[in-house]
Amino acid sequence: MSEDLIRKAAEIIAESKNVVAVTGAGISVESGIPDFRSPGGLWSKYPPEEYATIDAFYENPDKVWELFYDIGETLSKAKPNPAHYALAKLEELGHLVAVITQNIDNLHYEAGNKNVIEYHGNARTLFCPACKRRRPISMLHREHGAPRCECGGFMKPDVVLFGEMIPSQALFMGETLSKSCDIMLVIGTSAQVYPAASLPYTAKQWGATIIEFNTIETPFTHSVSDIFIKGPAGETLPEVVRIVEQLNKIDTEK
Ligand code: APR
Repeated sequence: MSEDLIRKAAEIIAESKNVVAVTGAGISVESGIPDFRSPGGLWSKYPPEEYATIDAFYENPDKVWELFYDIGETLSKAKPNPAHYALAKLEELGHLVAVITQNIDNLHYEAGNKNVIEYHGNARTLFCPACKRRRPISMLHREHGAPRCECGGFMKPDVVLFGEMIPSQALFMGETLSKSCDIMLVIGTSAQVYPAASLPYTAKQWGATIIEFNTIETPFTHSVSDIFIKGPAGETLPEVVRIVEQLNKIDTEK
């Protein structure tokens, strides 16, 4: 872990009350949830064109639910890890104004963040495309096959499948925050999926400092990232926040 970059990031963050975080699946890997595109990731077992598009859901909902029953088991057991708690602490300290997440695992809320913008929905709710009803996932008592809605339609997790639109409110908030933040923390995302992947470019264009946390370099690293902190977010992010807290204490003792 690069101590110098960690300290430099903490010093910049400690000076700002207008930090926004954009997170991807990598922040939840240390909670036991596999990401999508790392070797052995979810898409290597469930090709997204067969299991994660809205067309695949309409064509064969039972098949798409094979993926959701598999990850549903993992999601139900997953707990926030130190990276999630570090972002909650950063909000509590008054530096972080929002988390924009691509994740559907609810872990930012469970860690204590209040302002979470979910670009790809949340797997804690079921949705019926036919009649637009929503139900808590706790109502699901099946081991296989797509659950039916009272209206007769097939229910899906309330998550954005490929081919579906990002919720318009989330899109608006994401864009607005990217244009107004001083600093954007980009954590555990491969920068492959739009429109979420456009946010760091927008933030950079509007003058923000980009601090990227990842275990490997991404398309962001040599284009928009001002600081790239290599390593597992569960170790690097808490270290940055620990130093921010120290700097805050020194400030208040002045
Ligand atoms: N700490 C930090 N980064 C990590 C860690 C970790 N412990 N483990 C993995 N990563 C990084 C990987 O190196 C990779 O760059 O997290 C990133 C995960 O990338 P993806 O699996 O592509 O996930 P994500 O970027 O969130 O995908 C975006 O694509 O498939 C869709 O809807 C799905 O929301 C998802 C979207």
